[in-house]
Amino acid sequence: MNAYSLFKYLHSGFRYVVLILILLAIFQSLAGWLSNKPYTEGNRKINLFALISAHTQLVLGLILYFLSPFVQFNSQTMKNFDTRYWTVEHLAMMIIAIVLITIGHSRSKKIVMPEGKHKTIAIYYILALLVIIIAIISSHRSLIGMTS
Ligand code: HEM
Repeated sequence: MNAYSLFKYLHSGFRYVVLILILLAIFQSLAGWLSNKPYTEGNRKINLFALISAHTQLVLGLILYFLSPFVQFNSQTMKNFDTRYWTVEHLAMMIIAIVLITIGHSRSKKIVMPEGKHKTIAIYYILALLVIIIAIISSHRSLIGMTS
């Protein structure tokens, strides 16, 4: 196994950790927001773990970016779907998603009222999840499954 296939395997597999933690954070914060629940230590931890997992995926993605044969910087890059997607579009969309999670998390920390904390996490993490799902689907690779 070479460095490229190792980091592709790690990055591809780690998507499930990111997706599960973001979904958990969304379900908890929606429940907290809509039924006026307190903001517990459990909420805080899940929202933080989702943030940490997204940043870890960013680091794995950046390493993979410099190993992937699909990442190319030449006159053909934007003319070919695979090179355009993996050199520009995937990176851009995933960074937007990671920025949304980061802003949502830091804003929720500053808000005092539990309802406001839950609402902020719910809105920012739902937007980030939509961007991640659209980004993976538009890669023409499966949302659930790994390419060999
Ligand atoms: C939450 C953030 C991210 C998620 C959920 C994500 C998800 C994925 C998925 C599902 C794949 C396809 C794996 C496969 O074919 O089995 C992939 C591949 C890849 N991702 Fe990400 N990614 C994220 C962030 C990033 C970032 C920030 C970068 C770049 C800096 C990046 C660079 C790459 C590269 C280079 C590939 C491999 C292309 C190839 O050679 O096949 N990813 N990513």
